[in-house]
Amino acid sequence: MPEIALEMKNITKRFPLVVANDKVSFTVYKGEIHALVGENGAGKSTLMSILYGLYQADSGQIFINGKKVNIANPNVAINLKIGMVHQHFMLVPPLTVAENIILGMEPKKNNIFIDMEKAIKRVEELSENMGFKIDPKAKIENISVGIQQRVEIIKVLYRGAEILVMDEPTAVLTPQEVEELFEILRSLKKQGKTIIFITHKLNEVKDLSDRVTVMRRGKVVGVKNTKDTNQEEIASMMVGRKVIFEIEKKPLNLGKTALKVEKLEALSNKGLPAVKNISFEIKEGEILGFAGVEGNGQTELVEVITGLRPASSGKIFLYDKDITNYSPRSIREDKIAHIPEDRRQRGIISNYTVAENLILGNHYRSPFSKGFVLNFTAINNHANNLIKDFDIRPSDKDNLLKSLSGGNQQKVIVARELYGEPKLLIAAQPTRGLDVGSIEFVHQQILNERDKGKAILLISADLEEILSLSDRIAVIYEGEIVDVLDPKKTDEKEIGLLMTGSTTNKKLSKVK
Ligand SMILES: Nc1ncnc2c1ncn2[C@@H]1O[C@H](COP(=O)(O)OP(=O)(O)OP(=O)(O)O)[C@@H](O)[C@H]1O
Ligand SMILES: [Mg+2]
Repeated sequence: MPEIALEMKNITKRFPLVVANDKVSFTVYKGEIHALVGENGAGKSTLMSILYGLYQADSGQIFINGKKVNIANPNVAINLKIGMVHQHFMLVPPLTVAENIILGMEPKKNNIFIDMEKAIKRVEELSENMGFKIDPKAKIENISVGIQQRVEIIKVLYRGAEILVMDEPTAVLTPQEVEELFEILRSLKKQGKTIIFITHKLNEVKDLSDRVTVMRRGKVVGVKNTKDTNQEEIASMMVGRKVIFEIEKKPLNLGKTALKVEKLEALSNKGLPAVKNISFEIKEGEILGFAGVEGNGQTELVEVITGLRPASSGKIFLYDKDITNYSPRSIREDKIAHIPEDRRQRGIISNYTVAENLILGNHYRSPFSKGFVLNFTAINNHANNLIKDFDIRPSDKDNLLKSLSGGNQQKVIVARELYGEPKLLIAAQPTRGLDVGSIEFVHQQILNERDKGKAILLISADLEEILSLSDRIAVIYEGEIVDVLDPKKTDEKEIGLLMTGSTTNKKLSKVK
């Protein structure tokens, strides 16, 4: 029998509306990579938050290396050599790599001064041990997301972690970075570390894990040796039905030019050029996908089109109307819908209910408002319909948004934006964090909009998504469109290279 590193037994955790963990038993062997998967709201993050001492279970026990423990807070977890890499990194941008890693655990010289040299040496040792180099003196704000994630991993190892929990670590990485992360995790495994890996990407489960635990609606529905299962089986265990992986696209039926962007320029928050001389068009019935590593101008580009950031030069036309530097409200009234990438900041108000969030941006208009009075019947019907159509869970319109799982919050935004019958839909990372069943659903919705003759601007770091939905793919790098590709004649590898600034021999895949 393999040695058991962690055992969670009969863990139950209730929230007011749901049993997030319902007698969950979860066993992880020492030195394995264990994938934890399940539909949105299944209870994965809750289970890991209990392990890390962020939540307390209502009942159940936890054993680490066979010993019963009581994890009252994260400090106890850290002392038990449990480390967690959160999905939203917790690093301090103006500090250096080394400063971030030792934060709260600074090595001291003569018990007084911080021993920076020692810290830097330790950081170098740890990174070399994992087979990569990292500059301990680089500032966090100047390094890529992929490298920041390595800093988070080193930070956890610096604290002596033997069990590493990673909650959806690949959501923000490029394909190359994902491969590099996997190499790091495999090397940690070789060193005897135990890794728990939450993901919605089933190919990652296949590539990386030794075993997989599947959750649905708060319960564990199966534990498998990865080699004895396949993506189809895991997907249907997760969502309780068969999931279609290949989406069928109807032939292109292009209409008028809906969006035209001409020589657009805009500055970043720091006042540096972020969007550089960008020109493109999207026609009715077309999906233009933007592929790019985060931080290459796509965020600013969307902000300029939606009126959230001024254009420093250039023009934006919606049909024949010049909408450059219009206010966000008038742009929305012109029927541009926007699924924002940073949903925590822009898409939702977490202290409002689901029903309120479903009318955000339209709350002052008919049918939700009649002059000064809100029409609650309309608001409630609207909410109940969308909750049903989009399978938002828990299915309670009066629930506060902040108590929904990450994926269900995302569904609220997508539902609201698609409902408004937009002329142009801007979808930034529309399925990030969604489970396979919900991705299938949202993809179908986006394609329906296309087939209804809407113009769609899709921004995604998920190249599979870009390739399967787009009619044309623009690759953006350092604020410029470096290439426009035909999805039928390119692949993840080529796009991945272009996205990171490597100039490949331009293949014939290039379209006008
Ligand atoms: N603080 C909270 N208050 C109330 N309900 C909560 C809270 N945190 C989670 N829940 C509920 O518990 C359930 C499980 O949520 P959890 O975040 O663990 O899901 P998950 O499996 O991580 O989903 P996702 O894939 O969407 O991240 C959900 O129904 C969620 O609405
Ligand atoms: Mg989660």
